[in-house]
Amino acid sequence: MYLHGTSKINALGHLEIGGCDTVELKKEYGTPLYIVDEHLIRQRAREYMDAFKASGLTFQVAYASKAFSVKAMCTLVEQEGLSLDVVSDGELYTAMQAGFPAERIHFHGNNKTPDEIEMALDAKIGCFVVDNFTEIHLLQAMAAEKNQTVKILLRITPGVEAHTHEYISTGQTDSKFGFDIGNGSAFEAIELASKQSHLQLLGVHSHIGSQIFEVEGFQMAVERVAGFAREVKEKLGLTFQVVNLGGGFGIRYVEGDTPLEVSQYVKAITDGVKNHFAGIGEELPEIWVEPGRSLVGEAGTTLYTVGTSKDIPGVRKYVAVDGGMSDNPRPALYESQYEAMLANRANEPAAETVSIAGKACESGDMLIWDLALPKVETGDLLAVACTGAYNYSMASNYNRIRRPAVVFVQDGQSDLVVRRESHEDIVRNDLIPARMNKQTVTS
Ligand code: LLP
Repeated sequence: MYLHGTSKINALGHLEIGGCDTVELKKEYGTPLYIVDEHLIRQRAREYMDAFKASGLTFQVAYASKAFSVKAMCTLVEQEGLSLDVVSDGELYTAMQAGFPAERIHFHGNNKTPDEIEMALDAKIGCFVVDNFTEIHLLQAMAAEKNQTVKILLRITPGVEAHTHEYISTGQTDSKFGFDIGNGSAFEAIELASKQSHLQLLGVHSHIGSQIFEVEGFQMAVERVAGFAREVKEKLGLTFQVVNLGGGFGIRYVEGDTPLEVSQYVKAITDGVKNHFAGIGEELPEIWVEPGRSLVGEAGTTLYTVGTSKDIPGVRKYVAVDGGMSDNPRPALYESQYEAMLANRANEPAAETVSIAGKACESGDMLIWDLALPKVETGDLLAVACTGAYNYSMASNYNRIRRPAVVFVQDGQSDLVVRRESHEDIVRNDLIPARMNKQTVTS
């Protein structure tokens, strides 16, 4: 298993993250446990900020909180000077509860409800990324009602398809998101939005996909957006103050994944902006990006305890852990691959090939196929790397399995940032109608 960030194998042969021995973390917090390397997130955040500062452009780096939205993460992001992208009232509420500065919050989504819009207007967030014509009208009406002027970007689809898993491509024409440049709806939306009395159109947003390993897609998107900006300037006399180029920067889940350095992605974008936007307006636009996965993905490790195993001679050996698709649905959803090691015997050579099963009642609940490990025993600890993004945030209570705790680790210190769900949490919202009360049921 590749060791990310501060992960290392200590003198006891245990996996250590942020100076904390994972065997000790298991004793203190139990398993499954999401362990988050705080230092690595801060380092990535600084890589983004430094790369943009080096470009000389005005910028905002907004963390796409869908990747991992909890209060401590919002606080960390705020401390690093980033902005925050939210896509629901739940993510907005989390940010507000963490005291995140509202003016640095951007609200996305293809179907923001009136309640969500109201909440965001009342919070006075910095910007709405408007996705469709219905929303232009709704937001104008609601902002007018509250006598507010709201800053907006329009989400446009530049027609660039990123080389990525088909479920997570969003930049192509046939997408539920945004206004298409190709069929003219983006232009129409600009015209309409710019005439609204309570909307202040800052510019446009484009997001071409996720887990992208090349710069070409971003370069093409910049070029297309610049072409569109030129058309808008020529025909309507409007210039974009802000251009948001979304997220999607790839990370290394397994050997063979070849992400670029943060600085390479940023340079491709900022160079593209300098080339293609020159001369469109008096100044180059402010550039925003929205990394999610690349800020938190590699910083997360999930620690499980090995329970049962099933050896099918000549076929394979299944080894089951105390979590699975309920804490990491990505293998089942996207056939995503992960690397793992025995955290309590991290120095031992591989002795067998096993497949890691989760504990949910579903044959598809497999975390890793064909993993080389030392001879696995019940009670061993399995550490799965690179689970910081879209794991906790996509976790579920399927089978009423309780969601794990999350700890931040740094410099030998561990801090609980999300408590493990209790049995009480599982039934917290359940109600039994009075008419079903056993005493009142008559036969
Ligand atoms: N901005 C927008 C508008 C997005 O739709 C997304 C991701 C991001 C930023 C952040 O992208 P990132 O840097 O994290 O790649 N659940 C899937 C990923 C879905 C991504 C959705 N949008 C997964 O587990 O791979």
